[in-house]
Amino acid sequence: MKSIIVYESAFGNTEAIAFAIRDTLQQFGETAAYRAGEFSPAQLSAYDLIVAGSPTQKFNMLPDMRTFLDTIPPGALAGRQVAAFDTRIDIHKVNNRFLTLMVKLFGYAAAPIARKLTKKGGKLRQNPAGFFVEDTKGPLTKGELIRAGKWAAGLAGNG
Ligand SMILES: Cc1cc2nc3c(=O)[nH]c(=O)nc-3n(C[C@H](O)[C@H](O)[C@H](O)COP(=O)(O)O)c2cc1C
Repeated sequence: MKSIIVYESAFGNTEAIAFAIRDTLQQFGETAAYRAGEFSPAQLSAYDLIVAGSPTQKFNMLPDMRTFLDTIPPGALAGRQVAAFDTRIDIHKVNNRFLTLMVKLFGYAAAPIARKLTKKGGKLRQNPAGFFVEDTKGPLTKGELIRAGKWAAGLAGNG
């Protein structure tokens, strides 16, 4: 299985998750990780599994990830497995009722990423995943790199 992880990251935390996913998927076949801004959608047809991830900012993905997903030609992911992840702040640790309501209404980046991937023909391999950071710039919550590896093993059919 040939896999690609396409990610964005403002402060490095989503990149660390992307690399943990890459390191696990490498055990199952050739795997690479690229920033969305550095990878052309035209190259996607070379991969069996496409994983896309972004930090959640303003309840959604970063603009570079949106641009990348929107420039994938219609139907280009037919016959490919896809999966999506994000990083986010654990709303249960934020004591703010307004923010909690906003999160309930608008959510996180992974679901809209998954929707865009499936809209282009991809088959969702596993539920979108969210990995927690302790604060805006990180660090990742303890255990999240290991959880990302396990999620990736699930993508490979070995979760
Ligand atoms: C401008 C801005 C908006 C953010 N909005 C959200 C949000 O809506 N929901 C959330 O859970 N986290 C939010 N965050 C926290 C980010 O999710 C966090 O910075 C990110 O997970 C860190 O990953 P990175 O190091 O890869 O950028 C926001 C951060 C910034 C800087």
